[in-house]
Amino acid sequence: MGQYMIEGGNRLYGSVRVQGAKNSALPILAATVAVGVPCVIHNCPDLTDIDSTVKILKSLGCEVHRSVGSVSVDSSHISSNCISDTLMREMRSSIIFLGALISGTGEAVMTAPGGCDIGLRPIDLHLTAMQKLGIRVTEEHGQIRCSCQKVRGNKITLSFPSVGATENIILASVKASGVTTIINAAREPEIVDLAMFLNSCGARISGAGDSTIVIEGVERLHSVQYAIMPDRIVACTYMAAAAVTSSSIIIDEVIPSHLVPVFSCFEQTGCRIETAGNKIRITSPQRLRAPETIRTMPYPGFPTDCQAIMMSVASVADGITLINENIFENRFKHVAELNRMGADIRVHDKVAVVNGVSRLQGTRVHSTDLRAGAALVLAGLCADGVTTVDSICYIDRGYDSLAKNLSSMGAKIKRKD
Ligand code: UD1
Repeated sequence: MGQYMIEGGNRLYGSVRVQGAKNSALPILAATVAVGVPCVIHNCPDLTDIDSTVKILKSLGCEVHRSVGSVSVDSSHISSNCISDTLMREMRSSIIFLGALISGTGEAVMTAPGGCDIGLRPIDLHLTAMQKLGIRVTEEHGQIRCSCQKVRGNKITLSFPSVGATENIILASVKASGVTTIINAAREPEIVDLAMFLNSCGARISGAGDSTIVIEGVERLHSVQYAIMPDRIVACTYMAAAAVTSSSIIIDEVIPSHLVPVFSCFEQTGCRIETAGNKIRITSPQRLRAPETIRTMPYPGFPTDCQAIMMSVASVADGITLINENIFENRFKHVAELNRMGADIRVHDKVAVVNGVSRLQGTRVHSTDLRAGAALVLAGLCADGVTTVDSICYIDRGYDSLAKNLSSMGAKIKRKD
């Protein structure tokens, strides 16, 4: 399963380059199925979730070639529209293939997706939206079948701005007859990246990044080479690494505006943030102050994916932080592990009360999901003694070369497989 062994208490220095965004790369790779001609995707991070996506693409009959940082996909000879239960269970975002397959082949057959256990994660919004587009949806013995002669554009109002549902609607309607309008669409930067990729292939999508997205269906899409945007959650993780170790580092190849929702939180701790072009310098004080209440919200609110990361920061800050998790109902599993390291955190339903302590102590802890694992690595970086983080397979889903990057900045972290 793999472990990280971290010797805490070392200051970080220098700079780190941020990888391409996992949550852009996954839908964009799936989107190549809708494009139907060869595409090359650059700045693709090396992650196990990307491995799972490539397995799905190959199982559908796509020709896929990987080289360092790039994945080329030729979906012009798709031979299947069915994704096996084993592959669907590997990750949640496999559901994005629903809209992509509908656009590419007119039919999609799959089971419910798996992924990190952070809540119920239903797909009702995805399926209702497909029906609104004239797609026939049937569910039998756990298998979902969606089929359609020609997708018909429609107006779809989401009751919640779901990232995945917004992406699936865009993918399903990109070649529809007529116009699709999504009201209350998710506004995350990853939605904008997906729309920019599809538009560079000849799609007509406007409004991505706003609450109303309009998709004018086009007959066909064309080949393109496209570079994935930087990963804002990974950038936030490195900011937190600097914060907990009283360090000053430069985070390179980021889009600072994507991190505005987390900046004020770091500033409240006493960290100084300077931005210039695609770089951020973060300088942390000797002792952090507890940030005020953190409420996870859809973008441009505070991202749920940064909640566990910020909890590690709050754990070693002076004062009390209230963390309100509003997106996923089961996303506090890291609390028990942080408390094993000496943190003082209590959970009451959706709220965690973090009473900052002066030091954490290294011990053996267990990753329970991707961002929980990252939070434990951060705690290990500032803890006294050695921290062993088990089950780092979760961290491998979303972080490319985490130990290598932290080591290059002075951290003492080793990987044991
Ligand atoms: C995506 C991200 C994930 C991030 C999340 C929220 C990817 C690959 N993953 O996940 O990292 O944490 O956005 O920013 O991009 N919901 C329903 N019914 C649905 C769909 C969603 O009730 O049909 C609920 C979910 O249970 C959850 C909330 O809506 O409570 C948000 O989910 P959603 O925005 O869809 O997240 P994902 O696309 O799964």
